[in-house]
Amino acid sequence: MEVVIKETYEEMSLLAAQLIADVIRRNPRAAIGLATGSTPLGTYRELIGMHRDEELDFSQVISFNLDEYVGLPIDNEQSYHYFMWENLFKHINVTPANVHIPDGLADDLKEACDSYEIEIDDHGGIDVQLLGIGSNGHIAFNEPGSSLGSRTRIKTLTEKTRQDNARFFNSIDEVPKYCVTMGIGTILESRKLVLLANGENKAEAIQATLEGPITVSVPASAIQFHPDVTVIVDRAAASKLTREYHTEPSRFNFQ
Ligand code: GLP
Repeated sequence: MEVVIKETYEEMSLLAAQLIADVIRRNPRAAIGLATGSTPLGTYRELIGMHRDEELDFSQVISFNLDEYVGLPIDNEQSYHYFMWENLFKHINVTPANVHIPDGLADDLKEACDSYEIEIDDHGGIDVQLLGIGSNGHIAFNEPGSSLGSRTRIKTLTEKTRQDNARFFNSIDEVPKYCVTMGIGTILESRKLVLLANGENKAEAIQATLEGPITVSVPASAIQFHPDVTVIVDRAAASKLTREYHTEPSRFNFQ
């Protein structure tokens, strides 16, 4: 696992975008796994800039999002469908048929979750998966207690996550109670993981994820099992780390 500490959110976002762009330049048909939340917004801005100024081509890229709320129409501004189109897809030349986001409105949610796994498999797996982290150590919507071998499925959100995400809604009552999310087992099968965290309120979760034991109490700690992980954090999110880390990735080859 490679841990890179950047001084600012902007530097962190640029490095994450460079890692993803590098995968796409090597393989224009790469399958990229995408995340929502505030954290990846800077990365998406950088990718949009690379598309505009450096001809980064998304036309053949396949995307798979981590998760979605259950019951929010896709034109609801808080749905992750809406988020992704607004903050990334509408600004790049992605082919709409290549975009995959879990369906939180399916009549048969279980069947939709199983099909999502099959679609990922049919595309040969995910080449690089971008991840944020919840302040309670969740990844995607795999809340504490999630099985480390879990697959895409329906989950109940914890009160902590509903409170954290209430800032995007008018009130906490509007925050959905359920979601569909890739499982930890699904995420660990991606060929590469890039986990991002910024800000003081992530410091504890980052310390537990990187320096604590692998435990279902901190779902993100499961990334310690993965052979190719880059964790990029800003100074504030790194403030509780106790070991020595780098400020640049060591084996990063730009093309
Ligand atoms: C949500 C998402 C996660 C995300 C987390 C952190 O719960 N399901 O994928 O990592 O929030 O969000 P933020 O980046 O806004 O702190």
